[in-house]
Amino acid sequence: MASLTVRKLDEVVKDGLRLRAARHGRSVEDEVRSILREAAAEPEPGRAPDERPQNPAPTARQAPAAPRRTAPMPGGGGRVLLIIGAGIAAYKSLDLIRRLRERGAHVRCVLTRAAHHFVTPLSVGALADEPCHTDLFDPRSEFDVGHIRLARDCDLIVVAPATADLMAKIANGHADDLATAVLLATDRPVLLAPAMNPMMWLNVATRRNVARLLQDGRHLIGPNRGEMAEAGEAGVGRMAEPLEIADAAQALLRPKSAGVLAGTRVLITAGPTHEPIDPVRYIANRSSGKQGFAIAAAVAAAGAEVTLVSGPVGLPDPEGVKVRRVETAADMMASVEAALPADVAIFAAAVADWRVAAAGDQKLKKTGEAPPSLPLVENPDILATVSRMEERRPPLVIGFAAETEHVIAHAKAKLARKRCDWILANDVSPESGVMGGDLNTIHLIRDDAVESWPRMSKDEVAETLVARIAAWRESRTT
Ligand SMILES: Cc1cc2nc3c(=O)[nH]c(=O)nc-3n(C[C@H](O)[C@H](O)[C@H](O)COP(=O)(O)O)c2cc1C
Repeated sequence: MASLTVRKLDEVVKDGLRLRAARHGRSVEDEVRSILREAAAEPEPGRAPDERPQNPAPTARQAPAAPRRTAPMPGGGGRVLLIIGAGIAAYKSLDLIRRLRERGAHVRCVLTRAAHHFVTPLSVGALADEPCHTDLFDPRSEFDVGHIRLARDCDLIVVAPATADLMAKIANGHADDLATAVLLATDRPVLLAPAMNPMMWLNVATRRNVARLLQDGRHLIGPNRGEMAEAGEAGVGRMAEPLEIADAAQALLRPKSAGVLAGTRVLITAGPTHEPIDPVRYIANRSSGKQGFAIAAAVAAAGAEVTLVSGPVGLPDPEGVKVRRVETAADMMASVEAALPADVAIFAAAVADWRVAAAGDQKLKKTGEAPPSLPLVENPDILATVSRMEERRPPLVIGFAAETEHVIAHAKAKLARKRCDWILANDVSPESGVMGGDLNTIHLIRDDAVESWPRMSKDEVAETLVARIAAWRESRTT
């Protein structure tokens, strides 16, 4: 087959290609190949939707709220302080400066003490169009304690690349150079784009630091899986692509989705259920409730009237949310029914499929004979029950599919079986770290369309879902 050289594409098309490539972690050339492959495999008219290729390229219908590269950041673009750490990926941060600026952001840059080994203050300053800051003890900028000004005169701090060392310092509150002093002195949101060798990323110390940073409310984008600068090394550790980081920055700079769901009644379930065996023992699962609680908080912050029905978890009530705490699937079903009607129902709880048919009134005792048999009966299927309601069915019913294999195929089957409108599918296999962890990788499945979101924090999943629900609501009113 003849090779193909693509010329004379206008800038908008080129930018679209770059964005797609970044989202899929491919080179632009590979992205073009993939588009051609998909086009060649496009079903003929009249073919069943299931025969479409898996994971089709995003269409306007699939990703209504994905920010476009050309869309300016609100309020004149926002002020971003970009801190560049001392990693190989620092070269990509030069591109990031451009990506942020072309969205209208004002970008000011700080290099860590070691970062000048990777990029120069001159090129960083030239791209940002203002001098780059490097020295905590610079008499020209510190005569009026300039690092405090840097920390405050911005709307968002982006750290890219966030090296293992820099993340350790931030997690532990060090302030021994300009970058760390600024990060300690700021009250602005901080977005970290980690980049390091996969072994460094997996090291227990880094894991501990990442957990601490997320707990402290820092936002993370990436790292992605891919090849490393080191020959022959691959795995999770590549810095997210500049366009992905710019997208994440844009999402954080957007005035919080305040008001976009005002007047919407949203019902959410979260956490596990506990199914008693006797008064002291129960059947449960590893759900922490973090994702459902994050969604409840984000939906409430977007102005919705929220009822959260939660199984037993150790999380505080999110602000502005009516919380109903329950134990069993039967209790959860009853609370959900009592909370209807709603405009949107999001079923994030990991409801036990079965309960013990006849839980003991007293603690079961060892008798020295055969252990007791515990016949199980099926619990009510809350998602299917609400999805099939005739009168009080919420117009948008969203289920979660926690899968350990064939995530998308199983989730599509679940969407059809339960008759809900959307499924948020995630991989909860032990190696994913999703159950109880702070990060999640979601595939949003609607009818025949699959939209795969990059790995992000559970708060970011919640924000992204709010954007999708707001777009759904808008599409119904226009
Ligand atoms: C060639 C080279 C490449 C490096 N790449 C990375 C990297 O990608 N990620 C990382 O965490 N550390 C990397 N390091 C180690 C950091 O540069 C080192 O830990 C440094 O102290 C981090 O400084 P910072 O805290 O200012 O970012 C690299 C070092 C060298 C010499």
